[in-house]
Amino acid sequence: MIVGNWKMNLTIHEASLYVHKLASKVKGHRNVEVVLAPSLLSLPTLSLQVERRQFKLAAQNFYWQDEGAFTGEISAHQLRGLVEYAIIGHSERRHIFGEHDKDIRAKVQAAVRHSLTPILCVGETAHERTAGETNGVLHDQVVGGLANLTAEEVAGIVIAYEPVWAIGTGNNATPADVENAVKLIRRQVEHLYGGDIAASVRILYGGSVSADNASSYLTTPGVDGLLPGGSSLKADEFSAIVEAAHKAGKK
Ligand code: 13P
Repeated sequence: MIVGNWKMNLTIHEASLYVHKLASKVKGHRNVEVVLAPSLLSLPTLSLQVERRQFKLAAQNFYWQDEGAFTGEISAHQLRGLVEYAIIGHSERRHIFGEHDKDIRAKVQAAVRHSLTPILCVGETAHERTAGETNGVLHDQVVGGLANLTAEEVAGIVIAYEPVWAIGTGNNATPADVENAVKLIRRQVEHLYGGDIAASVRILYGGSVSADNASSYLTTPGVDGLLPGGSSLKADEFSAIVEAAHKAGKK
């Protein structure tokens, strides 16, 4: 699974042109699910434009209430039909916009309630890493995000390990770091919901992923895909990452 998080980039017009270009470069492979997370503004246009067998769509964020007096917000209920996935708890939401695990948990539940698949992001900051707190942070974010879900609901979700220090820095985590973090996350899910559920949860890595380093993660045990940010905005590079996933999936 390859999920491109465009963050706050591209106008509606630029997004549409970009997807047109991307569609000619990204080959549809049955063993790779390709998901695009454009700005909310572009979702209605792109949901009509994309061929769902080639690209699925994801929201980058939403509010957990279904409707009401929440000026400026949009809900999972409103996203239904436009997207299949929703990124929840991205570190930029946690650290710039002050979202806490209880907000993130409410969003995960709202997504599930409206049949959107959560892509729950977890990851430690540089400071937490230096202080040796990585395991504790991942534990708290996984438990905090997934509490109150049924095993059946958890089975379909996606978790992205995105160490904050690796995001947008060019300082990508080593495959060994990622392998350890992914093991820890899966063990945590197993502890909460059992081995079968833990095995079925897809876990991605994100943080300065590029066409050059993608294969090293895609061949790392336990890693089911990638969540590139900056490199998802370059059609050649993004399609090369999808190709790398296709090749890794064949092995
Ligand atoms: P970069 O790939 O730009 O580091 O961003 C990763 C990310 O935050 C994806 O959600």
